Amino acid sequence: MNLTIIGTGYVGLVTGTCFAEMGNQVTCVDVDAQKVALLRQARSPIFEPGLEEMLARNIEAKRLRFTTSLKEACQQSDLFFIAVGTPPDQDGSADLQHVLQVARQLGEFLERDAVVVDKSTVPVGTAQMVKETIEHHLEHRGADLTIEVVSNPEFLKEGAAIQDFMKPNRVIIGTESPGARERLAELYAPFNRNHQRLLFMGTRDAEMTKYAANAMLATKISFMNEIAHLCEELGVDVEHVRQGIGSDERIGYHFIYPGCGYGGSCFPKDVRALSQMARQRGLEPKILDAVEARNRAQKERLAQKIVARYGEDLRQLSFGLWGLAFKPGTDDLREAPSRALLEQLIARGARIQAYDPVAMEAARAQFPPSWFDDQHLMLAEHQYAALEGVDALILVTEWKPFRHPDLAAMGRLMRHRVVFDGRNQYDPHQLAAAGFEYDAIGRGTYVTDAALMIPAGSGPEQPR
Ligand code: UDX
Repeated sequence: MNLTIIGTGYVGLVTGTCFAEMGNQVTCVDVDAQKVALLRQARSPIFEPGLEEMLARNIEAKRLRFTTSLKEACQQSDLFFIAVGTPPDQDGSADLQHVLQVARQLGEFLERDAVVVDKSTVPVGTAQMVKETIEHHLEHRGADLTIEVVSNPEFLKEGAAIQDFMKPNRVIIGTESPGARERLAELYAPFNRNHQRLLFMGTRDAEMTKYAANAMLATKISFMNEIAHLCEELGVDVEHVRQGIGSDERIGYHFIYPGCGYGGSCFPKDVRALSQMARQRGLEPKILDAVEARNRAQKERLAQKIVARYGEDLRQLSFGLWGLAFKPGTDDLREAPSRALLEQLIARGARIQAYDPVAMEAARAQFPPSWFDDQHLMLAEHQYAALEGVDALILVTEWKPFRHPDLAAMGRLMRHRVVFDGRNQYDPHQLAAAGFEYDAIGRGTYVTDAALMIPAGSGPEQPR
């Protein structure tokens, strides 16, 4: 098939590249000329394992091309995917200006009947708005074309985007048009081997499904983070509780890992946008609001623990920080817990030596320059260099190289053997045996004699 993808962000780029890999002719359109130039050289603007190789292969095979001209793309194809951003506006609602701008342009440039597919995460009713906007512009220029709009939300995860796209749990196809339904079923046929993954429904149902999926996953995490906090108060290790409840098939092991808060481009934004949809209809979305509030609080947990341990004034202290990206496998810093933590530590005068396997360049570009100028934040060359002379290690992102660290080397490098584990990656007993004081999320504080020096009156809870 000959298709056009509009927007080469995470979703658009992965969608276009994967459809090309399946043998389709794909044109990707983006307004950003620099990005298009980069992509033409098979260089990816995002870090995503396997993507550059796939880009190169498909550009080489002439199945994948990039352009800034939507007009030109309109002359070649009749199947369009809108994958532009829907950033939050001031009240948290999804801002549809980019989506509707694309719809207006399609109305101006389309020359034949077309199927237009919304891949962006958009509020319920957007497919209808897109259809009306295109039709309004067609009418204005006297063009008598038939336009069908489909809602086909994307569920890929950063860091596993290609795998998720190629082997989806399900493909949601929301449309009222039998013709569009058939086109999409044909396009997705190669992804639908072995068992039925295509789910057909109305456009509004599909739009809602995407928000409900993300909100449900965010709810699981926030629920578990709340349980973790309670565990700390009650002297319970949440890791045992997690395993205990996850073994119930009705609950499952996924998305019940407590931590220092969820981040990324989807969960925070989509939970807020869904809340706004509810509010706009006069409803009070109590669960969604609680999910959001818990996550905000969760991003402060590590800083709270550090302040409880050392006091408000952190000027004499330095910390090693492992992990800046909002999760492993990506260089994405959007809504990353590391940022919230750094804000709080730096405001209290702490000095931080941070290391992340891929997100350091992004951090240098996106974090406030004053953090680097004032020597509050240093980026270390490797994970152990981040530990030289520090009073404690803080683990924020559970990249694989951080999961089984060399404890002996850590002990030699660090001024004090203290670990704050924001992702519950370590075995408390093993760390205690190696002389480390250890505090994680929902597990109590483990201390040994060798682990040292707890300021009088501000010590942690007793070891359990
Ligand atoms: C998410 C959805 O999974 C995906 O389907 C949707 O299309 C986009 O949003 P993504 O943001 O890439 O994907 O990351 P995901 O792996 O879902 O993690 C989101 C956040 O939740 C991360 O900050 C992660 O650290 C956190 N998380 C995840 C937890 O804190 N605990 C968990 O148990 C799982």
